[in-house]
Amino acid sequence: MKIGTPLSANATRVMLLGSGELGKEVIIALQRFGVEVIAVDRYENAPGHQVAHRAHVINMANANALRRIVELEKPHIIVPEIEAIATDELVKIEAEGLAEVIPTARAAKLTMNREGIRRLAAEELGLMTSKYQFSDSFEDFKQAVTEVGIPCIVKPVMSSSGKGQSSIDCEQDMQKAWDYAMSGGRVSQERVIIEQKIDFDYEITLLTVRAKNANGEIETSYCEPIGHIQQQGDYVESWQPQAMSQTALTKAKDIANQITSALGGRGIFGVELFIKDDQVWFSEVSPRPHDTGMVTMATQAQNEFELHARAILGLPVSTTLRSAGASAVIYGGHEAKGISFEGVEQALNIVNSDIRLFGKPESFTRRRMGVALAYADEVEKARNNAKRAAAMVKTTTT
Ligand SMILES: Nc1ncnc2c1ncn2[C@@H]1O[C@H](COP(=O)(O)OP(=O)(O)O)[C@@H](O)[C@H]1O
Ligand SMILES: [Mg+2]
Repeated sequence: MKIGTPLSANATRVMLLGSGELGKEVIIALQRFGVEVIAVDRYENAPGHQVAHRAHVINMANANALRRIVELEKPHIIVPEIEAIATDELVKIEAEGLAEVIPTARAAKLTMNREGIRRLAAEELGLMTSKYQFSDSFEDFKQAVTEVGIPCIVKPVMSSSGKGQSSIDCEQDMQKAWDYAMSGGRVSQERVIIEQKIDFDYEITLLTVRAKNANGEIETSYCEPIGHIQQQGDYVESWQPQAMSQTALTKAKDIANQITSALGGRGIFGVELFIKDDQVWFSEVSPRPHDTGMVTMATQAQNEFELHARAILGLPVSTTLRSAGASAVIYGGHEAKGISFEGVEQALNIVNSDIRLFGKPESFTRRRMGVALAYADEVEKARNNAKRAAAMVKTTTT
């Protein structure tokens, strides 16, 4: 492994496709290893743009625009941070040897569509998932809901952060769920997944890393499980470690090993799992850092962004947990550009707490603008402190 000097002819160049709060932390971790980083996003002054060597604004779902920026910047490595990318073009770029895609172009392509990853997990690997159906029209949809059974959850196959997602708890909810899914998809297409609603005790993200070991071979390692709470399909709070039975944890690691091995490459993956007693269902996987994993900034010797950066560069990793901890989301609370944050000093007066403000140029009421972190000897204490710290940060439009 050789790392060059940034901004010189032998620089090691990494391009982030998507430069939000997660990408920003990956960029900082890469910068610390002397990597030249190019941040790409769909809007100006995205969080990652503010800490990279160069920044570009393009429509990453446009194949031509994507190829142009790769030809211009000639990155050695491309790191997708979002799902909405022209992944067929990424497959070509990788096949032509223009750049290496993390973890692989195929993984980016399979996970951008719920159908690709679900069929791989359930039908090829035989992992336990919720019962599911896909449909493209309201007629089909009604039939599919009957087959899956009520209660169930409906999601556009191409969506994230809960967009277009709703549950059907009685027959009368069908039309509403269909209409909502049609309004929330990422691209104008009508395909949805209908999933049996799992009555889980709790859900986790199992951060799983594929990185080179001392012998130069790819080895899989696991962070301690992260518990989290989702509201309207979006994460509001996470903590680590989530207490689990030994049986459930072993099953969770086995599932994570199977799905990440099938996707291949190097990098961190967020494997989302539902748990009830000793039963474990695979839900979905992100081949990149996970939002609920922001808690690792307070808990791990190497946080999830550092793990990703190391794995990408072919360096060794350690998933050691230093302390129990928690994260709580800070929302914009306003629809406005250039908002301010007050009360950060009060929040930081809470023992062993920390605050990250992402620097997003525009706020929406439910947009994630920052996160509060806390560590403590017990998860409950950390959760309480992270939530208190988040609540002390007030957003204003002046
Ligand atoms: N089949 C299901 N059963 C129960 N809860 C679900 C199911 N699918 C999704 N959820 C809930 O909704 C959240 C978001 O769903 P997910 O499929 O992860 O969408 P996204 O890609 O937007 O993160 C999950 O973390 C979980 O809390
Ligand atoms: Mg999810």
